[in-house]
Amino acid sequence: MNIFVTRKIPEPGLDLLRKEYDLEVYKYDRVPIKEEIIKGLKGKDGLLCLLTDPIDRGVISSEPKLKMIANYAVGYNNIDVQAATERGILVSNTPDVLTNTTAEMAWALLFSVARHIAKGDKFTRARKFKGWSPMLMLGQDVSNKTLGIIGAGRIGTAFALKSKGFNMKVLYVDERQNTILERELGAKKVSFDDILKKSDYISVHVPLIPSTHHLIGEKELQLMKKNAVLINTSRGPIIDEKALAKALKEKRIFGAGLDVYEQEPMIEKELLQLDNVVLQPHSASATTETRTKMAIMAAENMMAGLSGKIPPNCINPEAFKKK
Ligand code: GLV
Ligand code: GLV
Repeated sequence: MNIFVTRKIPEPGLDLLRKEYDLEVYKYDRVPIKEEIIKGLKGKDGLLCLLTDPIDRGVISSEPKLKMIANYAVGYNNIDVQAATERGILVSNTPDVLTNTTAEMAWALLFSVARHIAKGDKFTRARKFKGWSPMLMLGQDVSNKTLGIIGAGRIGTAFALKSKGFNMKVLYVDERQNTILERELGAKKVSFDDILKKSDYISVHVPLIPSTHHLIGEKELQLMKKNAVLINTSRGPIIDEKALAKALKEKRIFGAGLDVYEQEPMIEKELLQLDNVVLQPHSASATTETRTKMAIMAAENMMAGLSGKIPPNCINPEAFKKK
């Protein structure tokens, strides 16, 4: 059987696949365009793709042999899962292995904003540091403040649990009650309005689905405290980037830390001019350890799917019955 891999991923994953299949790996270090994906997919049984690849109905229906799509990401909003299911094509993602790594990036962003780390680094390198000063780089404390978790799933839970050392009051919104957070942190499940009104730090951990698109816009930003810090390591379109840029520019909130954007790799121009926002290039899962684990996980899912089993991290097991 043959597999198309849309980008070079860590070798341990590719090695696993090479042992059993013929691999074609996209040869450039850039995001392939749709036509290139369709071309690479020709005659292949498996597709190992990235979150940057739009695997829509057109791509999925372009290759009749296609049986398995392994996404190298936990989020899978880039794939038309419905279209895959209709054709009996299994789809998998890479959950769990990146949970702590992503939660750590959310904390890194939170501290960067609260204590002006990015701004301070730039300032110091520019030799503007002329000696200790009572009013230089005044940030705000994190300990004993209120932390709001929007989406208390795997990553939101891991992020919240790491607040233990900072003795924070933890609020969360989720469809389900999170007994781990309630037991471990005394966290409270609150309404969406309440989390916006009461939190000093808000971190977003929901998947991108139609109901979470622009979950935070002008109206929601208006409800936040003046000292609020908003962190997003999930998906860009969950926040209305224009509305956020405006709120930051008018200093209606203290700051924001973003790893994801509405139209990656494009970024709202205004954000680039502001120093109360810290910007990362969608790298929350980017550690050597985690990216290696993701590669192995995607490969193992692929191997299971192509050998007629339900992959361990299958998103659409109902597709199995269609085969
Ligand atoms: C990263 O954004 C992922 O979904 O894995
Ligand atoms: C700061 O450096 C202090 O000693 O207070």
